[in-house]
Amino acid sequence: MVTKEDILQALREVHHPGKGDRDIVDLGMVHDVEITEGGVAVTLAFPKRRDPLAEYLIGSTRAALVRHLPGSVKSEVKTVVVEDEKPKKKGLELGLEQLAEVRHIIGIASGKGGVGKSTVAVNLACALARLGYRVGLADADVYGPSVPVMTGTEGATPAGEAGEDGQEIILPLEKYGVKWMSIGYFAARGQALIWRGPMACNALKQMILQVKWGPLDFLLIDMPPGTGDIHISLVQDIPMEGAVIVTTPQTVALADVEKGADMFRNENVNRPIFGLVENMAWFTPEEHPDEKYYIFGKDGGERMARELGIDLLGRIPLVQGIRESGDAGEPVALGSRPDGLAFVELAGKLAEKLG
Ligand SMILES: Nc1ncnc2c1ncn2[C@@H]1O[C@H](COP(=O)(O)OP(=O)(O)OP(=O)(O)O)[C@@H](O)[C@H]1O
Ligand SMILES: [Mg+2]
Repeated sequence: MVTKEDILQALREVHHPGKGDRDIVDLGMVHDVEITEGGVAVTLAFPKRRDPLAEYLIGSTRAALVRHLPGSVKSEVKTVVVEDEKPKKKGLELGLEQLAEVRHIIGIASGKGGVGKSTVAVNLACALARLGYRVGLADADVYGPSVPVMTGTEGATPAGEAGEDGQEIILPLEKYGVKWMSIGYFAARGQALIWRGPMACNALKQMILQVKWGPLDFLLIDMPPGTGDIHISLVQDIPMEGAVIVTTPQTVALADVEKGADMFRNENVNRPIFGLVENMAWFTPEEHPDEKYYIFGKDGGERMARELGIDLLGRIPLVQGIRESGDAGEPVALGSRPDGLAFVELAGKLAEKLG
C-alpha cells in the first residue's frame, strides 16, 4: 500500500533549480496529496505570477511518481495557484513544533552494533515510566527496527491526523505507559532495507518530527548501529540534548565506544555524553540468580568510562530473561526481578543527572 509518506519521499527528489536547488516539499510547493483506490494525485502550488520552471517541475514530479510507485498505481499531477508570491504556509515541510513540549531528548547510541542499544533503550523507557515520568521512544533504526518486536506492538498501525497547515501528524502507539514510534510500523519486514541513504534519512526524521509526542519528560532516540552520515545528520537536525552510550565490557570495544562518543563530541555537533551503560557486564544463570560470572572481565566498563572521561551510569547483567522478554515483547524493566530493577536504577540515575 502506498502511503503519503512514500509519496513525499518521492517528491523530495524533485528539486527547484531556481531556488537554490531545494526540493518541492521543503519549499512548501506540495499543496495536496490524495490517495484513492486506483491512484495518486499530487497538487503543486504555484504563485500567481507563473513560475517559469512550472512545466519542468510538473514533468519532474510526474517522473518521480512513476519511478517510485508500483506500475499498477496511476498518478496525476495537478496545479493550483496560490495568492502570494511566496506561499505563507510551510506546506508539508517538517518543523520542530512536535518537539516543543519535550523536555529532554536523549540519543541512545553505541559505536558498534549488537551491544544491546535497543534493549537498553526500550527498558530504560519502561523504567522511566515506572518512576512516573512521561516518556516516548523513537526507533531511529530504519534498517533494522526492533522496537515493535521488543514491545509487542508489531503489526500495529499508528493513526494519523491532520495537523495545522494540513500537515499529517502521526500518533504514537501507547503501551506500558510509553509512547512508541518506529519505521517498523510502516514498512513490511525487510522493506526498509532497500532504502537509499537520503530517503532513509528523511524517513527517520519524520519518525521523530512528524509525531504528536505531546508533553514528555524524556524522548529517547534508539540510534541505528554505526557512526555514519545518517547519524551525524540526525544529531544535527534533531535537538538532542545529549547521549547515553551503550557498550559491552570487552576491551576491544573501547575504540568503538570512542567512535560512538565522537559522533556527539565532534565540533559540528558538540553535545554532552550523559554516561555509559555497560551491558552484559556479567553473566547470571537463570537457575542461580545470586551468582555473577564476569566472562568479559570485571571492570571493563569502569575503565572505559574513566578513559573517556564520562560517568558509568549503570551496569546490566547478561541474563537469558532479558533476551527472552525482548523477544516476547514484555520488557524486563516492567517486572521485579533483579535484572529488571537494574534498569530502574539506571533510569533513576539518568533522571537525577538531568535534574
Ligand atoms: N543484557 C542482556 N542479556 C541478555 N540478552 C541481551 C542483553 N542485552 C541484549 N541482549 C540480546 O542481544 C541481542 C542484541 O540486542 P539489541 O538488539 O538490543 O542490540 P542493538 O545494539 O540494538 O543491536 P543493533 O546494533 O542491531 O541495533 C538481542 O537478542 C537482545 O535480546
Ligand atoms: Mg538496535
